[in-house]
Amino acid sequence: MAGIYIHIPFCKQRCTYCDFYTQVAPHLIPEIVDCINRELNLRKDYLKNSPIETIYFGGGTPSVLNNSQFMAIFSTIFSLYNVNPDAEITFEANPDDLSPEFLDSIASLPFNRISIGIQSFDDEDLKRINRRHRGIQAINAVKKCQDHGFNNISIDLIYGLPSQTIERWKNQLNIAFQLNVQHISAYGLTYEEGTRLWKQREMGKVDVVMDDEMIIMYDIMLQKMIENGFEAYEISNFSLPGYHSRHNSAYWELNPYLGVGPSAHSYDGNSRQWNISSNKKYINALKNDESFFEKEVLTLNERYNDYVMVALRTVKGIDLKLIEANFGVEFKNYCTKNSTQFIEMNKLKYNEHLLSLTKEGIHISNLIIGELMYV
Ligand SMILES: C[S@@+](CC[C@H](N)C(=O)[O-])C[C@H]1O[C@@H](n2cnc3c(N)ncnc32)[C@H](O)[C@@H]1O
Ligand code: SF4
Repeated sequence: MAGIYIHIPFCKQRCTYCDFYTQVAPHLIPEIVDCINRELNLRKDYLKNSPIETIYFGGGTPSVLNNSQFMAIFSTIFSLYNVNPDAEITFEANPDDLSPEFLDSIASLPFNRISIGIQSFDDEDLKRINRRHRGIQAINAVKKCQDHGFNNISIDLIYGLPSQTIERWKNQLNIAFQLNVQHISAYGLTYEEGTRLWKQREMGKVDVVMDDEMIIMYDIMLQKMIENGFEAYEISNFSLPGYHSRHNSAYWELNPYLGVGPSAHSYDGNSRQWNISSNKKYINALKNDESFFEKEVLTLNERYNDYVMVALRTVKGIDLKLIEANFGVEFKNYCTKNSTQFIEMNKLKYNEHLLSLTKEGIHISNLIIGELMYV
């Protein structure tokens, strides 16, 4: 079981908070698509012919591609990889790209899931963080996708945006629940070093939401998610039953994945590798048969730490049996011993062989993960 991630490193406009590798450079799109196809060819044995359960076009902004560019990538994937007939095939889209014409033009492509980056429905928020769309466009985008037959729709929201109040966050959630989407990803805003937003905060120009308010916003969201029938299957990911993101879940279960395109990461169970974060250098390297990635072989210790980091964020939690089977009894004992204090404090719960966060534990998840990691 494996996944393919395709990074589309383009945006029409940069949002102030984002540090993903992307460029506003539409003239490079055809060359990048060409090089993505070359990379898919070069690395066709990376997943050892494992069945492909998920394909995910992320970004950047995959919705800047047109039908024939998507088609070129799909025909490479379907001719070289062993794609399961029921694979989950997702693309990320920005609301302002989702016109009826665009949706018509991609109707023949094999997408069965769409992830729409809404972030907020509030025009003041959206303007402040330099999003291209307005709230009403986001609402209409979801409706248009539903009209075009998408029945597995995810939306991204961010809470704790500058100047956001608890009341305004509640409104965002209320709007989201009226849209009848199947999945919501909601991350607390992080101030990433080097971004425009980070610089604005350094200059004292941002009304930063305080940590205690962020906690209240999260708790309100969790409560509302449950009331609306959503399962909190990971700290920041919520879905109606049966609509977990199979692609994200595979990352959290440490299944192998191939990441293609500038800055994309790959994992084969033993090593991680990451592609160069530069469109120009990526194009040059692929055209001249030069190296375009760095690679790190993981030690047992690093693989254990990776597992703890992702598994504790999920509703299932850390599987101590799996730790023993994959990393040995010493790591299992270490994890058990270091979890005791958090179980006593009711921040972790232990059920059968599974260790998971309690509602109270969610807010100190990073601290707990740090204590369970082996250093
Ligand atoms: C890299 S974006 C790609 C999706 C698409 N381009 C968009 O903007 O809607 C993926 C998601 O990461 C989240 N994200 C990116 N930077 C973030 C930050 N600094 N804090 C919180 N969430 C962030 C946003 O919710 C965003 O939709
Ligand atoms: S959030 Fe999305 S649209 Fe905004 S800069 Fe990042 S990738 Fe581009």
